[in-house]
Amino acid sequence: MSLEQLLAWIPAGHPDEALARRIDFARLPAHVAIIMDGNGRWAAQRHLPRVEGHRAGIDAVRDTVETGARLGLDVLTLYAFSVENWKRPASEINTLMLLLKRYLRSELNTLLTNNIRFRVIGRVEDLAPDIQDELNTAIERTAQKSGMLFNVALNYGGRAEIVDAARRAIEAGLRPEELDEERFASFLYTAGQPDPDLLIRTSGEMRVSNYLLWQIAYAEIYVTETLWPDFRRRHLLEAVLAYQKRERRYGGITPARAAIGAQ
Ligand code: FPP
Repeated sequence: MSLEQLLAWIPAGHPDEALARRIDFARLPAHVAIIMDGNGRWAAQRHLPRVEGHRAGIDAVRDTVETGARLGLDVLTLYAFSVENWKRPASEINTLMLLLKRYLRSELNTLLTNNIRFRVIGRVEDLAPDIQDELNTAIERTAQKSGMLFNVALNYGGRAEIVDAARRAIEAGLRPEELDEERFASFLYTAGQPDPDLLIRTSGEMRVSNYLLWQIAYAEIYVTETLWPDFRRRHLLEAVLAYQKRERRYGGITPARAAIGAQ
């Protein structure tokens, strides 16, 4: 998509318009991954039960997905439920699953209209059958879409993913000498997808929390104090603008630094 697609969705004169115009569309991050954090604190600040934070977080998901698609991201990955999240009270887990189900039902048309392909990464086979059915419906209905790929990480753990990939490589009969980084990545849940260029975490925490451990090797990390339920189009645009100011070196040096060294 493009600046036009984005502007068509921003009311004229809205402060987000100026932000959108500053984006360099030739240097967008191909893949943005987000750790949605702070739902509980958002609810606590309002003396509400934690689940109300998750409920409000759905509005942030909606806004972020549409912004990502209109911006023209290739991939957006949201961390919705980790393998560690089973330690939470059953009532909270049930609400999270219910919210996910409702989101998929109510937003399927928006995904289709915005040409979004939906995928899930994680140990999906351990989720309840009704959740798996709902996920499969959204995956199948959007399978032919050619715009942004929207991954939801569900029952996901970065270490679990690496173990699963190793198991799959063994099952495929791969010989040790055939294994290199590229081949190994083809056994990950994200096989064929670009690695995240930008990792966003909300609510000010400075942790990667077992998220996409292999894939974020060279990602730029952006942490915002904003709590997830308050995250909107503006925050995603600000994160992309901050990313575009970074100097990415992938362990090497830029020509400017090389010139200093040569003096
Ligand atoms: C972290 O906040 C948030 C989660 C564990 C769940 C995020 C899930 C959703 C927003 C809903 C479902 C998602 C989709 C994609 C439809 P926290 O509870 O850890 O917050 P705290 O650190 O403030 O306690």
